[in-house]
Amino acid sequence: MRATLVAANWKMNGSFASNREWLRVFTASTVSSEVAVCAPYVYLAQVADALRGTRHASAGAQNLSAEAPGTATGEIAAEMLLDCGVRWVIVGHSERRSRYGESSGIVAAKAARAVVHGLKPIICVGETLHEREQGRTLAVITAQLAPVFDACAADELAACAIAYEPVWAIGTGQTATPAQAQEVHAAIRSLLSRHDPGAASQTRIVYGGSVKPSNALELFAQPDVDGGLIGGASLSVTDFISICQSADRAAN
Ligand code: PGA
Repeated sequence: MRATLVAANWKMNGSFASNREWLRVFTASTVSSEVAVCAPYVYLAQVADALRGTRHASAGAQNLSAEAPGTATGEIAAEMLLDCGVRWVIVGHSERRSRYGESSGIVAAKAARAVVHGLKPIICVGETLHEREQGRTLAVITAQLAPVFDACAADELAACAIAYEPVWAIGTGQTATPAQAQEVHAAIRSLLSRHDPGAASQTRIVYGGSVKPSNALELFAQPDVDGGLIGGASLSVTDFISICQSADRAAN
């Protein structure tokens, strides 16, 4: 049985003062799903420290370098994230693929470096509206995941989560229907299964794209949807707690 995972993606938002309040309210709530709070680099130690005493929640980064520590000005290595108490790291978010030119090869190298060092990557994949309309959703996702399958061994894949985030649903208010999400999640699981049946049953596949308190339960109730990656709605701690509680309910 896969434990449900809900990850907050704060993106480039937050301040020490507003984070403190968010973390105070969150740590006082009752959530039993596993939770990753993915914050900007400069706030990771704050988030990790605040979540240290909780049972299921830990800090996550939104990116890392594919390289070892050394001469890479402005980059952050896996070792440094671990040193801050970080457990999770988002790789290949569509904003990084489209705005910062991250290829699927780079994303796979980042995922492999993260997992080898004991971080748990959340590997994002997803099609644009144009690609969906052309009937290319599965081809796009297959191509995005192929280098990950080459770079990670089966036991490493089981430690990763895959986030299906249709680009047309991110930050748009337009959520994939539960049936659309389930169809793609099942297809991703069958790709995993062709690569390694053990990993297929263990790897969590979470959905991201305009998840909010009103649609979370239906999405998380789908058999191959193992939780969510939450952007905009994670900035409100009450909305995020409500989404986590939907994940708790869907898991029961
Ligand atoms: P959203 O973002 O929930 O605001 O659509 C999700 C994401 O980008 O991870």
